[in-house]
Amino acid sequence: MRPVQDINAVLAQLDRELWVVTAADGKQRGGLIATFVSQASIVPEMPRVLVGIAKQHHTRKLIDASGVFALHLLEETKLEWVWRFGLQSGHGVDKLAGLAWQLGATASPLLSEALAWLECRVEARFDTGDRTVYLAEVVAGKKISAAKPLTFRHLLQLAPPERLAQMKALLVRDAHADALVIERWREGAKDR
Ligand SMILES: Cc1cc2nc3c(=O)[nH]c(=O)nc-3n(C[C@H](O)[C@H](O)[C@H](O)COP(=O)(O)O)c2cc1C
Repeated sequence: MRPVQDINAVLAQLDRELWVVTAADGKQRGGLIATFVSQASIVPEMPRVLVGIAKQHHTRKLIDASGVFALHLLEETKLEWVWRFGLQSGHGVDKLAGLAWQLGATASPLLSEALAWLECRVEARFDTGDRTVYLAEVVAGKKISAAKPLTFRHLLQLAPPERLAQMKALLVRDAHADALVIERWREGAKDR
């Protein structure tokens, strides 16, 4: 048995920025909240990111169809974006409705009131069972404000109790679903 509590005590020290990931396929558009976003190159002329998106998400289908996506940092006053993009699925809902946005150079939706955005073009994708992990070239970016980006820990302090409960319930539900597909993926990996 692995010492899960010991492992989680280490991981609990980390904090992560919240990103709004948007994408469009020409007909539909959408987006989600993600913390699985990492800078993936130290070459200033070749910026890259790694982004992990759960396979069942609407946004994942848009990224696969278009091969591009945009990443946005948000400030703490934009908690509504966390509920809008992170607590409902875009299957049948236009999550960008009512927000100020425009299409960027890659034809990904850019949110005008973000702190900053990056436009990304997928270079490779990896199946990890529960997620598709995208390695993407960053082809454009803009820092709009110097305000501090919202992080997961800060969100936990700011969220009203009913939203916190909703978010935790969703994360627990998703974690159960992820555990099953990771197990299946590992079983398959033994035969690969
Ligand atoms: C704090 C937080 C962090 C999240 N991080 C990720 C993530 O890194 N990757 C991911 O695929 N989903 C993540 N999610 C879940 C999606 O944002 C959420 O399921 C969303 O509703 C999916 O929307 P879609 O089906 O319209 O794409 C996160 C949600 C929250 C609230």
